[in-house]
Amino acid sequence: MNFGGILAGGSGTRMGKTDLPKQFLMLGEKPIIIHTIEQFLISASIDEIIVAVPQNWISYTQDIVEKYCKSDKIHIIQGGSNRNETIMNICYYIKENFKEEENIVVTHDAVRPFVTQRIIKDNVELCKKYGATDTVISAIDTIVESENGNVISAIPVRSQMYQGQTPQSFKVKEFIEQNEALTKEEKEILTDACKVYVLKQKPVGLVFGEEYNMKVTTKYDLKLANLMLNNLSDKED
Ligand code: CTP
Repeated sequence: MNFGGILAGGSGTRMGKTDLPKQFLMLGEKPIIIHTIEQFLISASIDEIIVAVPQNWISYTQDIVEKYCKSDKIHIIQGGSNRNETIMNICYYIKENFKEEENIVVTHDAVRPFVTQRIIKDNVELCKKYGATDTVISAIDTIVESENGNVISAIPVRSQMYQGQTPQSFKVKEFIEQNEALTKEEKEILTDACKVYVLKQKPVGLVFGEEYNMKVTTKYDLKLANLMLNNLSDKED
């Protein structure tokens, strides 16, 4: 089976002072997280959707899902103390409740509401092939590396550089096995869920995202997202 894993366990500190964690703020006529869940609900590639939120926001999430997009396919669970732990909670939930061997989870930031049907489909297809995927766009600006923050240590070739987005997708069984094998120190370094595959020299297939598959992080992003909402005429779906 193929699962959508909606990562909504954060508190959105970079959004500044708000009444609600950013994933619950309104974007047009519904909360950001609802736009995101809806994209997974209409995807023919996705069978079930696991939404992970902070423990004290579970019943709030149940209420808004009931109001905007009620479906038996949606399961609301507790997130973790960091993003990778939230992914692990989703994977454990799948392992415990859906016994199949070949489960795939397409994990996606709740605060990237403009994900497309094509991106979700490509994630599932490529994950079947490689075992893991990352969604990226080509780097637009030159990337400058500085190890000490004062002077440049490297300028990588721009045509080989990409900016990471989500979804990131994994075969659930393998993802759990790999992460359970990590030491505490390794877990602290591996801030990105795909990094463990790179470290173990396992392939991670690249899915090409879209520039507008933006992450709502700051108040400025939210303004931009509201402007984009009704003006994405060149969005593919
Ligand atoms: N996330 C999560 N579990 C966590 C932390 C983050 O599921 N423990 C999710 C967020 O809810 C968000 C996504 O990961 O949908 C991307 O993370 P980010 O934009 O950094 O969200 P926050 O951690 O909420 O924001 P900030 O870093 O500003 O506090």
